[in-house]
Amino acid sequence: MRHLIDPTDLTVQETEEIIDLALDIIAHREKYSEVCKGKQLATLFYEPSTRTRLSFTAAMMELGGNVIGFSDANSSSVSKGETVADTVRVIGCFADIIAMRHFKEGAPLVAAQYAKIPVINAGDGSHAHPTQTLTDLLTIKREKGRFDNLTIGFCGDLKFGRTVHSLIKALSRYHGIRVILIAPDELRLPGYMKYEVCEKNGIPYREVNSMESVMHELDILYMTRVQKERFLDEDEFDRLKESFILDPAKLRTAKKDMVILHPLPRVNEITQEVDADPRAAYFRQVENGKFVRMALICKLLEWSKGGSDKEVISRNGLIVDRMICSNKRCISATEDVPQLFRLVDQEHGIYRCAYCESKAK
Ligand code: NCD
Repeated sequence: MRHLIDPTDLTVQETEEIIDLALDIIAHREKYSEVCKGKQLATLFYEPSTRTRLSFTAAMMELGGNVIGFSDANSSSVSKGETVADTVRVIGCFADIIAMRHFKEGAPLVAAQYAKIPVINAGDGSHAHPTQTLTDLLTIKREKGRFDNLTIGFCGDLKFGRTVHSLIKALSRYHGIRVILIAPDELRLPGYMKYEVCEKNGIPYREVNSMESVMHELDILYMTRVQKERFLDEDEFDRLKESFILDPAKLRTAKKDMVILHPLPRVNEITQEVDADPRAAYFRQVENGKFVRMALICKLLEWSKGGSDKEVISRNGLIVDRMICSNKRCISATEDVPQLFRLVDQEHGIYRCAYCESKAK
C-alpha cells in the first residue's frame, strides 16, 4: 500500500512522475475522464479547508470517481470519541483512497497504519502538507521550468506554516537551492527543519528580518499567512499579524521573472494591488492544485494495486515506547498509539517523534 504522509515518502523520481502526469492531464483532460470510474475518495477533514478539500473533490470528479466524507469533525463520530484508527478502519470498507486533514500532528500517519487503503495527508497541524508541496512544485515547473538553482524566500509564519516545512523538504533534494527565511523572531523555522533538513542536505539558509533587503536575490517569493489558529496567546498573534505585508513598492527591486507564490488563504500579507502583477502566480497555483491531485490519486491507486505488506513505518531503528513526545499537539499525546522515536543526531543525542518530528521529552 502506498501513502503520502510526508513529501519524502515519494522519491524525487516518483515526485516528478506525478508532476509529469499532471502536465499530461492539463494537455489532454478528456483522456482522464473515466480513469477512476467506480472508485471512491473519502475526504476526512477534521479542520477547516476550502481549496484543499474542494480541489480533491474536483480532482476525483474529473477522473470520473465519487467522493464521500466530512468537512467538520463535529458532524462525524469523532465527536462521540472515536479514534483516528477506528475511523479509518471503517472508511476503508466504503472507499478506495483517503485524504485526511487533522489538527493533530501525525494523525495521518496513524491513519496509514490502520487503513487498508492509501492515505493522503492533506495537512496535519503545523507539521506537514505534502499535497500543497506537489501543487507548489507543479507551479514552479510551469512558471520557472526547473527545480534546480533557485533562490527561494519564505516569508511570514515559518514556525506554524506546514506548507513551508514540506516545500523546503522537497526542494532540499535538488541542486543549487538557496533558502532565505524572512520571519519575525517568534515565527522562525523550527530547529529540525534548519539542522536536519537544510544543513544535512547542504542547503544554505539565511534568516533575515526584512523582505526589502533580500528581494533582489529571489527567484521565488513564497508568502504565508500568520497561522492564527495555532497561537496559544491571542496577544502574541495580534502583535505579529502584520509583520510582513507585500505591496507593489516592495516589489520594485524584485527580478522581472520572480514568481510570487502563496498557498492561500491570504489575509493581509499581500495587498490586492499585487494581484495584477504578472509575477503573482498564486491563483494559477490554486488551479495547479487540482491537476496535481488528479495525478496523485491516479498514481497512488496504481502503485497500491495488488497490495503490499510493506510496513508504513519500518520499526527498524525506531525506539518504541521508551520516550514520550514533548509536543502537546502530537497525535501520540491523545491517541493510544505506540510512542515511536528515531535517533536523528547521534552526536547531540537528539531523538525525534516519528509522528510529528518534535523532540522527546
Ligand atoms: C494552507 C494550509 O492549510 O496549510 N492552505 C492550503 O491548504 N492551501 C495554508 C494556510 O492555511 O495558511
